[in-house]
Amino acid sequence: MRVLGQSDFTIVALQEQIVHRSNYSLVLSASVANMSNTSWVYVNGDFVPAENARISPFDRGFLFGQAAYEVTAVYNGKLIDFEGHLARLSRTLAGIEIAEPDVDLASLHQEIMTRNNLTEGLIYLQVTGGVHGPRDFYGPEELTPGLFMFATHKTLIGDLAQDGITAISIEDTRWKRRDMKTTQLLSQTLAYREARRAGAHTAIMHEDGFVTEAASANTWIVGADETLVTRDLSRALLPGITRRTLADLLRQNGLRVEERAYTLEEMFAANEAFISSTGVVIAPILSIDQRPIGTGQPGPVTRQVQQIYYDYLGADTGVIDWL
Ligand SMILES: Cc1ncc(COP(=O)(O)O)c(C=O)c1O
Repeated sequence: MRVLGQSDFTIVALQEQIVHRSNYSLVLSASVANMSNTSWVYVNGDFVPAENARISPFDRGFLFGQAAYEVTAVYNGKLIDFEGHLARLSRTLAGIEIAEPDVDLASLHQEIMTRNNLTEGLIYLQVTGGVHGPRDFYGPEELTPGLFMFATHKTLIGDLAQDGITAISIEDTRWKRRDMKTTQLLSQTLAYREARRAGAHTAIMHEDGFVTEAASANTWIVGADETLVTRDLSRALLPGITRRTLADLLRQNGLRVEERAYTLEEMFAANEAFISSTGVVIAPILSIDQRPIGTGQPGPVTRQVQQIYYDYLGADTGVIDWL
């Protein structure tokens, strides 16, 4: 690998803020705001206290958004759907041309759980294109990845599950390969901010009149005959791991599941609607653009769906008094 000289770097404004580790590797503190629950994180081969985590601004993840991520739930001290997350990660990495990290990801997940005393919450993992010179769109043929992981303590069956959420609708402006879980999240960030300004929790994204998904979750509607409908997989949406497990569980429990695209109008007219994701698990959608969905309250089918998935999680649903 070519060693870079100081003259290769022309980002003078940045130089004041960055620390020289060597003449090649410049480091920038990872933001540790909102990480009060996290003490140990994993960065490129080492477990370090969160406040000591450092990444290079020359990482291709930072420069080009060339990075994949996964978020895996931990419930009762167990990783949920881990194989599904690993398989999706591999698929995304192949799609964005980053080599698989040469580590045992299962062991790293176990270790980060142990070090952080995590029995319920989320583990975030990001695989980046790594550092390969200051800025070169092509990069080497084989991209040696960077790897960053942290854990957060979170109650998975929480207030949103109980009370439901509100939403706004928003045109889906994301890129055209949404089936890959990359860190190109600009549209989602803007959608969340617009939702917050409108007093809603999230946004239901649509394209050509059809719902794609929520800002960071898959969407479901409950039709007149209680059929559960979620959009079929394509490049237009992320293949949610929770969506897949849930579809299997619902079918095993004798419910009708249909995978097809539906319009925003159909969603407005649905008896019930809900989202599924690793972080929120299942939350009823009460309204979109301030128009109530069904009664505007969590409906019976959604509650049944929650019961089925929470049983799968191993939750003691007897103590959840709103279920
Ligand atoms: C755009 C989008 N769709 C769907 C999901 C749900 O996927 P999963 O169930 O794997 O968390 C997510 C999760 O972050 C997401 O960002």
